[in-house]
Amino acid sequence: MKTLSTLSLKWSPAEFLLLDQTLLPKKEVWIKIENLDQMVEAIKSLRVRGAPLIGVSACLYLAHQALRGQDLKSLEKDAQALKAARPTAVNLMNNVDQLLKHFSSTTDLIAEAIRIFDEDQTLCDGMSTLGAELIKDGDNILTHCNTGSLATVGSGTALGAIKKAYQQGKKIHVYVDETRPLLQGARLTAWELAKERIPFTLITDSMAAFLMKQGKVSKTFVGCDRIAKNGDFANKIGTYSVAALCHLHKIPFYVVGPRTTVDPKCPNGEAIPIEERISSEVTGFHSSKESVSWAPEGTKVYNPSFDVTPSEFVTAWVLDHKIITHKNLGDLC
Ligand code: MRU
Repeated sequence: MKTLSTLSLKWSPAEFLLLDQTLLPKKEVWIKIENLDQMVEAIKSLRVRGAPLIGVSACLYLAHQALRGQDLKSLEKDAQALKAARPTAVNLMNNVDQLLKHFSSTTDLIAEAIRIFDEDQTLCDGMSTLGAELIKDGDNILTHCNTGSLATVGSGTALGAIKKAYQQGKKIHVYVDETRPLLQGARLTAWELAKERIPFTLITDSMAAFLMKQGKVSKTFVGCDRIAKNGDFANKIGTYSVAALCHLHKIPFYVVGPRTTVDPKCPNGEAIPIEERISSEVTGFHSSKESVSWAPEGTKVYNPSFDVTPSEFVTAWVLDHKIITHKNLGDLC
């Protein structure tokens, strides 16, 4: 039986391990996932995160449980619970629905989960190659959140394209938005870029406008959690501000995502469900090791985890198999 290993997961008949992304970059701790509660908790608490990675790991979890002898009827119930764990990223629903077509036998289910894993790697290669074509020598690229090998099982989406351009020898530099409130940029993208030795500078989200005004940003690359039929898309909170700023400063704004992130049933951004998260993510920072609160006790908070960027702010949608612009937007799905 095949064993699978990436920057963020390890899967074999013996065990299924996820890298706990809440502890990065300070600690690289692998957690063993052995039941549904652990898997759902890992998704909800963002130990495993990133639209493509969530979808693939949910499928690999089900395949692993099938290998351990859990019967298909109860696995079908678990599949529904997993689909409900995070509402915005459509890859989770798309991947699990695809797997559910293969619940006729344990062998079929396992083979399909492995195919979904392999497919994500191929999709990443496609996006990275097409996205890198849009990156030129000397570019200063702004990115938001984490969209690399920690968010997929391959090279990534937006960060995959950036890494590919660097591997091609292009002299580039990346501005990394810290990405409040959970700091996926400061903790995870900075960690991945440092590992790859790609030159980068960390900024707070509120600095992007000033950098653009100063002419420091040549283009922006972001990932996505769901692309609607009209090209509106959901991504980590703060993406909409970056897109609006790029529009104002006439800076190209590229969104990179695989075909598994396109939702043909979703007509526009209004129809995308937006996850709301707990207030403590905004009033302070809490992990198993440290806990800091900076807002007065009882402060009222609104914490949408994603926002929707309207199609009009997007220069191009970089999919795994083609680049879509406003001229061929009808080809999105
Ligand atoms: O809440 P997260 O960390 O899962 O959010 C991740 C993002 O918003 C990414 O940009 C998106 O999933 C695309 S990742 C390839």
